[in-house]
Amino acid sequence: MSAEYERLNGIIRSIEGRIPFKPQVAVVLGSGLGEFAKSMEVVSEIRYEDIPGFPKSTVLGHEGKLVFGRLNGKKLVCMQGRVHYYEGYDVSDVVMPVRLMRMMGADTLILTNAAGGINREFTTGDLMCISDHISDFVPSPLRGENLDELGVRFPDMSEVYDKGLCLKLMQAAEAVGVDLKTGVYVQLSGPNYETPAEIRMLECLGADAVGMSTAVEAMAARHAGMRVCGVSLITNMASGISETELSHAEVTGVADKASESFQKLLGMFIGML
Ligand code: HPA
Repeated sequence: MSAEYERLNGIIRSIEGRIPFKPQVAVVLGSGLGEFAKSMEVVSEIRYEDIPGFPKSTVLGHEGKLVFGRLNGKKLVCMQGRVHYYEGYDVSDVVMPVRLMRMMGADTLILTNAAGGINREFTTGDLMCISDHISDFVPSPLRGENLDELGVRFPDMSEVYDKGLCLKLMQAAEAVGVDLKTGVYVQLSGPNYETPAEIRMLECLGADAVGMSTAVEAMAARHAGMRVCGVSLITNMASGISETELSHAEVTGVADKASESFQKLLGMFIGML
């Protein structure tokens, strides 16, 4: 057994009594999107600080707990707040919660995030279904000893974001009247926002939205055989496209405003799974 798998097993054992059911769907809630957890019939919560060895989120707008609940007939586990590479954690720690949710039994993962819009057809407040990602600006979460118990050494990444789930997300968007965009997400390490020259480079590479999370989590989940889908909330247009300076307050402010349509979309989507 790999040392990392043994560590994960130890964490699961230490919270076993507090996991109320085998979750079907895992959800990671990004900056300002944590409110979604309240739309569930909440069964129980575990604060990250009460999980030995669990990384702690240090970012404003990220609560820091696992919330178990039911929504539209599904059993869910939500990460209300995530940890990021820029907080100083190793990428293997950043993806550890996703692996734990997999080991609890979840086979579907919904990733959400706040992102800067690169595609000039986007506007602030738009929601984007992630069709693919570019992760090459951050280390791979799969580097180091392979966790053979979870997946293979050289996992395929030709369809990280499940096409069937993307389609369902589009149908859910239509049903609730949300104009859902589609695009490629690029993950940078952060914590600084980008320069206009960097955004022009990312535009040339084919990115539609930029952020500081998600791609590494999606890769760890695919490695472990989960079906993955992702939604970005465009909280601002990216540097050089936006006419104003970027700030975290702007990001969380827009996320608060979009929270209602985001919750409607996700609720409908989960019911359709
Ligand atoms: N860049 C990177 N990450 C982000 C942005 C951005 O413009 N907005 C929200 N998260």
